Amino acid sequence: MTVSRSVAKMVHKKCRSAMYPFGNLKRLLIPDEHVSWNVNISYDPPEFESPTIKNKPWADPHVDDPQFSPNYNCIDGKVNRASFMGTYRVEEKRPLNPEGRTGLKGRGVLGRWGPNHAADPIVTRWKVSGGAKQVHSSSSLPILQFCAIQRRDCNEWAIPGGMVDPGENVSETLKREFLEEAFSVLDTDKEEALRNELIITDFFKHGKEIYRGYVDDPRNTDNAWMETTAMNFHDDSGESAGKFNLKAGDDAKNVRWIDIDRNLELYASHSSFIETVAKLNNAHW
Ligand code: BGC
Repeated sequence: MTVSRSVAKMVHKKCRSAMYPFGNLKRLLIPDEHVSWNVNISYDPPEFESPTIKNKPWADPHVDDPQFSPNYNCIDGKVNRASFMGTYRVEEKRPLNPEGRTGLKGRGVLGRWGPNHAADPIVTRWKVSGGAKQVHSSSSLPILQFCAIQRRDCNEWAIPGGMVDPGENVSETLKREFLEEAFSVLDTDKEEALRNELIITDFFKHGKEIYRGYVDDPRNTDNAWMETTAMNFHDDSGESAGKFNLKAGDDAKNVRWIDIDRNLELYASHSSFIETVAKLNNAHW
């Protein structure tokens, strides 16, 4: 099992850009050397909680709600409030982002205080032409393709990941998100749909873990942040998930197989996961 933490070692950046997404709100700009909570500075960032999360079943109440008494740093009922990054601090009832300051207090658009857990299925196949693997002219290595979606919220291309539902197993989330966002069996007849489902179920039993940890996501704040488990499911023969037509689900504008290459610009930390996948499969990068 390959677990890479390289993404987390960098100072987070995407969650320090001037504007917070979906809110037309400016973050306080934090220089790299002031990101760590261990550096003492006078710090008073703006606070934001999006009205879109109010009373949503997937969102926590406000920390100041007297009825709300979460157990942080552990599995709290059905909600996983433990962080892959170790024990996080909680100050004035607010969990502190383990990667440091972001220039914004509150939850922003994220539902949970503290870690918000997602899962990213990286489904890959070889680029084939006339029955043979296509090799890249610069690296002489075969070209890998991954199933990508164009996110509706920001238009960026991304892995078809999503949030882990309360009580859900990450392996279930990985398969569910791929099926919801990128795959459609609705147009086929019942028998074929069943056959396809068996193929996909089997396919999702054979994944390799690529990353587990914090994600430098533009939605992160000082008190709420994204973490993910990314796994690679590789269709080596092109006879399994790789042979199906893709169809964009609700949160996706578009879906397609994208050739993997170092020049790809993808959502959040996704390029870094894709790089790991390319190297793992000895493919062009
Ligand atoms: C996305 C995942 C992503 C995670 C962290 C989720 O909303 O669906 O693909 O890795 O956020 O950025």
